[in-house]
Amino acid sequence: MKILVIGDIYGKKGLDALKKFLPEIKRDTNYHLLIVNGENLADGLGIREADYKELMNLGVHAVTLGNHSFSKQELFTFINDANIVRPANYPEKTPGKSVLMINFNDKKIAVINIMGQIFMHDPLSDPFTTLDQLLETVEADEIIVDVHAEATSEKLAIAHYLDGRVTAVLGTHTHVQTNDAMTLPKGTLYITDLGMTGSKYGILGADKDLVMERFLTKMPVRLRPHKGKELQLNGVLLDLVQKRINIIHKSD
Ligand SMILES: [Fe+2]
Ligand SMILES: [Fe+2]
Repeated sequence: MKILVIGDIYGKKGLDALKKFLPEIKRDTNYHLLIVNGENLADGLGIREADYKELMNLGVHAVTLGNHSFSKQELFTFINDANIVRPANYPEKTPGKSVLMINFNDKKIAVINIMGQIFMHDPLSDPFTTLDQLLETVEADEIIVDVHAEATSEKLAIAHYLDGRVTAVLGTHTHVQTNDAMTLPKGTLYITDLGMTGSKYGILGADKDLVMERFLTKMPVRLRPHKGKELQLNGVLLDLVQKRINIIHKSD
């Protein structure tokens, strides 16, 4: 079984990048399942129902989120019935699922999303204990964990903590793909960050001029998605038979 996992899809350009690059990735890799991080679909902040439906039309099986999970309030109206998993370390009463189960042939695949605490501003539960508690309840053949975190050390620590207990630990949130895809000593597949999908010459997906204005003036400039036509797509291909993780990077 091959699973394609794609990092933070940013705005309409992110959807354009999926439409442009997915057919050739499908042809080259013949992946069976598609998991994407969708926290930035709504112009960078959250996900709307229309964005979610576009993902379903593109053949996505599971959508993970992050610190921008609930930036669009309309998510509350459809999250419980959607193929969406929100960070497990939100309080129990937060809408949405902590684990999303996918059935593929005779296999059960669990998708989990967890947020880091270092340099993140949401007061969520400790990811290590949350994962311990959650994994006790999960019955699956394969477990894929999206670690949405800023600090590389925290992502590596979570990955080594889960090594041998889950199939893959894949980082998201920093929007820049790291060059450290590897198999950990006890067999878990890992990368520190999948990278983002959307505009190539924006700054992490946002309009580069607005981001520079923020840095140059130190004023709270409101960001918008970058509009340039050049696109990029970043992620990994997990081959669960060969037990390999391979970088996927496409760009104009
Ligand atoms: Fe993001
Ligand atoms: Fe994020």
